[in-house]
Amino acid sequence: MGEVSLAALLPPLRILLLGYGNVAQAFLPLLAARSEWLGRELGIRPLISGIGTQHQGFFVHATGIAATTLAEAADPLLLFRSQSQQVQDAATFIQKGRAAQATVLIELTSLNPQDGQPALSLIRLALQSGLHVITANKGPVAYGQAELEALARRHGVQFRFESTVMDGLPLINLAQFTLQAVQIISFRALLNTTSTLVLSMMEQGYSLDDAIRKAQQLGIAETDPWYDLDGWDAALKTTILVNNLLEGRITPAMVQREGIRNLPPADIFAAALAGASIRLVSRASRKQGVVSAQVGPERIESNDVLYVSKEVAGIPSIIVLETEAMGTITLIEHESLVRQTAYGVLSDLIAIVRQRSAR
Ligand SMILES: NC(=O)c1ccc[n+]([C@@H]2O[C@H](COP(=O)([O-])OP(=O)(O)OC[C@H]3O[C@@H](n4cnc5c(N)ncnc54)[C@H](OP(=O)(O)O)[C@@H]3O)[C@@H](O)[C@H]2O)c1
Repeated sequence: MGEVSLAALLPPLRILLLGYGNVAQAFLPLLAARSEWLGRELGIRPLISGIGTQHQGFFVHATGIAATTLAEAADPLLLFRSQSQQVQDAATFIQKGRAAQATVLIELTSLNPQDGQPALSLIRLALQSGLHVITANKGPVAYGQAELEALARRHGVQFRFESTVMDGLPLINLAQFTLQAVQIISFRALLNTTSTLVLSMMEQGYSLDDAIRKAQQLGIAETDPWYDLDGWDAALKTTILVNNLLEGRITPAMVQREGIRNLPPADIFAAALAGASIRLVSRASRKQGVVSAQVGPERIESNDVLYVSKEVAGIPSIIVLETEAMGTITLIEHESLVRQTAYGVLSDLIAIVRQRSAR
């Protein structure tokens, strides 16, 4: 029997994709490219059982289509739609997808920084229906992590969100598995790639509008780019980090937030001329049990570990952790693009399969 037919005998892992924008469209080819690895290492065959979006509709396939088949198509969504049944809304999509034997929902819809809805309710429904859930969407995690994790435990499924903060960099896993009991006291970080890109382009004389367009072309801006530039994205990421790294229990409203909308271009320029840079910095600390968290523009001098030389390629995300047991730890993701986010989603999928088989 050839390799292709052997792979076809592996147990399917049926996946629902809720949202089919930049991240989902980067995830699908990555999943296809790693399908052989997933078969060899984890003994699974990834199939897409549903794709749903707000404006293009919600589609469920009766048995699932191989990720490799879809990724080879010129228009994967068109192919999927042509072979699937359309259902009326996201809730029905989840229910019909579960009935079609899907076991994982990957939630990649737009950020709503005010309350994380409707993603929060949809994730709740998916977990209650017995689906594992992966999300790259900060909203539902920042507003509902504790509740969603409790719900997942009750239903014997997992809720994972590695890519919400630093894309594919294993920051949540680091605290959860690798640096357990290290006691993180504080962090400072550049977490919003769009504002880093916009500020660095403005240092070079580009207009704000041109810089926003560039972030949109790269697929890194939020659906509404002002959620990046007004500090919402960074505030939600800061909330998630405080709750996962500093053992906090905060909500986004507890993060002091100031964006870069009103920064005078002359200030950005002057800082650059003096060899420094202005960046949107997230910071939080825990002192005697009290957590404080802020997001706002700060001048970063060239001897600061958060400073990135103009010669360094890429748009990095950086976090500096102050820990009790390990001193200072700095993590840098040199490229913070949509491909890295897609990898974070894949890493969550692998973690789910591994933990499921470990039980
Ligand atoms: N892009 C990145 O680099 C990055 C990095 C980390 C995290 N994230 C997060 O990942 C998520 C997806 O980002 P993206 O860049 O892929 O966004 P995007 O390109 O704007 O795509 C969003 C997708 O969600 C769909 N959608 C929005 N509201 C929906 C609803 N109520 N029901 C069903 N579908 C809905 C949209 O459908 P229509 O097109 O039909 O409206 C679209 O397919 C966001 O939460 C973002 O914060 C993104």
